[in-house]
Amino acid sequence: MWGGRFRRPLLPELERFSSSLEIDFELYPFDIAASIAHARGLAASGLLSRTRLTAIERGLRRVKRELDEGEFAFHDTDEDIHTAIERRLTEITPAGAALHAGRSRNDQVALDLRLYCRVAASELVSAITGVVDALASKARAHAGWVMPGYTHLQRAQPVTVGHHLLAHAEPLLRDAERFRHAYAAADEMPLGSGALAASTLPLQRERVRRELGFERLTVNSIDAVADRDFALDLVYACASAAIHLSRLAEDIVIWATSEFGFVRLADEVSTGSSLMPQKKNPDIAELLRGRAGRSIGSLVSLAAVLKGLPLAYDRDLQEDKPALFAAVDNALDSLDAAALLVQHLEFDRERLASAASDPALLATDVAEELVRSGVPFRKAHETVGRQVRDGSLKAPWKVQVSISKRDLPGAPHPRRVAARATAVGREATALRRWAKGHPPRLPS
Ligand code: ARG
Repeated sequence: MWGGRFRRPLLPELERFSSSLEIDFELYPFDIAASIAHARGLAASGLLSRTRLTAIERGLRRVKRELDEGEFAFHDTDEDIHTAIERRLTEITPAGAALHAGRSRNDQVALDLRLYCRVAASELVSAITGVVDALASKARAHAGWVMPGYTHLQRAQPVTVGHHLLAHAEPLLRDAERFRHAYAAADEMPLGSGALAASTLPLQRERVRRELGFERLTVNSIDAVADRDFALDLVYACASAAIHLSRLAEDIVIWATSEFGFVRLADEVSTGSSLMPQKKNPDIAELLRGRAGRSIGSLVSLAAVLKGLPLAYDRDLQEDKPALFAAVDNALDSLDAAALLVQHLEFDRERLASAASDPALLATDVAEELVRSGVPFRKAHETVGRQVRDGSLKAPWKVQVSISKRDLPGAPHPRRVAARATAVGREATALRRWAKGHPPRLPS
């Protein structure tokens, strides 16, 4: 591809080190759609004849078929998916040699990655609604089930199971917004930036943008080939979701212990021990907790690739893809597994009620009653604290009463929990609808 300038090829021993094919293979559908759009743009500028355009489009569709069907023959010298596709296209039709006008692999890979990120962000939004829905429907079914709420993993005050489950749904809804932000960040069309300094050719950037359904054009050709912020945003959103799933998983692990016994793990989401016949382990939850490590690793690894890179494109940027793809795959897998795990949670009403009947959970209620009768809070706190110390604290009412008194916006009152669960379900539906419509269809 750069034969003119070189007398000798790259050392064969370095081909594997230099190649990114194993990783960026995943980009091929985007690379082909982007090449079709670029070719149409060249034709519209009068830089490519109709006949050549037709031959190129036809050739690209054939390359796509070969790749889809596993019939594509890779060469040792294919450095990445972009060179492999162009090499094969040119074997199929000599018109292929005209395709790369005005284009560099630098803006090409920036474009492919943005196309990938839009699809990934949309799939992630849809996957996250699976977990959110599962949490919302469990929350609705357990809106009035009382349980102890914890701080420092010590019994604190009464809450409801529904309220606690929705406390895991809210961060995931925020992650959905993070994924949508990452989508918007990727929604810029870089082609026409060339290697870094755009092109002397009259490229029709606006036409290519429309063809690929991008919201905007990139505005600086140097930034366009150097920027991976959109990928960093997406990987961060993946890490954030994975961290949230790990916290949900940890609650499930704790609840499933004999010591707590708040949930029973359904057989379908549990594993046994090869040695101890009695064991039923929360492996899926533990894996969710462990998998978060991968996502955090991806975030650190992408940030480290970008740190200190001089503008514009540097080959280091090839290392963006392992981190990006791993973060996306891991988040998608984890979200799907978490949805199944939540769907199969069976809460033990009696265990929960008995834990929630601990009178100490109502110590604050007693202090707050004193406040109602005019006692300054510090004084009330001390009085009740002494009763706890002396073992003479008497619950003023049943725990259900305490829950029904907790009726502020955002509080665990069963009516509020049920209403929020319904609203969360509706938000999930709206997010799924958004994901269905994004991104737009690519040229084929
Ligand atoms: N495989 C390369 C990457 O993923 C494509 C761009 C190569 N550009 C270059 N100037 N060597 O970043």
